[in-house]
Amino acid sequence: MSKSVKDYVRSISDFPEEGVLFRDITPVIQDPQGFRLALEGMQELIGDTQFDVIVAAESRGFLFGAPLADRYGKGVTLLRKKGKLPWKTVSQSYELEYGSAEVEMHEDAILPGQKVLIVDDLIATGGTVEAAVKLVEKLGGEVVMAVFLMELTDLKGRERLKGCEVKSVIKYEGK
Ligand code: PRP
Ligand code: MG
Repeated sequence: MSKSVKDYVRSISDFPEEGVLFRDITPVIQDPQGFRLALEGMQELIGDTQFDVIVAAESRGFLFGAPLADRYGKGVTLLRKKGKLPWKTVSQSYELEYGSAEVEMHEDAILPGQKVLIVDDLIATGGTVEAAVKLVEKLGGEVVMAVFLMELTDLKGRERLKGCEVKSVIKYEGK
């Protein structure tokens, strides 16, 4: 039987801390077939959704956002961790399990009225993508969909994104 994307994901117990089962995408992208399956799976979910630009989330989201943008003949713009972008930025803080973090986008990353597709490798608590949606909206853009390779369903990240279409290629229950 042919392999599916899930067959390429490596699950590692107790990383980064005890009790967490880490879903490692490195074996997916280092295998040409795994990488292609991942991108094709995301494309299937995007379907004929119309968008102007992809927002990719640092850092693992870049791995999928950039090749997808190229496949659709669109540009890719970056959601980065605080302090990395050289031009004028808008920023948004969000809660982590312990403490908080901040992400930024360039002020001119989205033009008012543009339709935006957000891409990341994973939706867990949904904090990262919620911050991305807020920044896109601050800049006058409209998020038409957020697409992920993986989703940790028990963390209910999609519930933070009411009104935004959320799709993921593979789902895992549990942390
Ligand atoms: C991970 C993952 C997603 C985010 C998902 O990124 O790549 O971006 O967490 O979690 P959330 O839904 O709870 O926000 P991380 O911030 O660990 O950084 P990285 O992509 O640079 O490895
Ligand atoms: Mg990330």
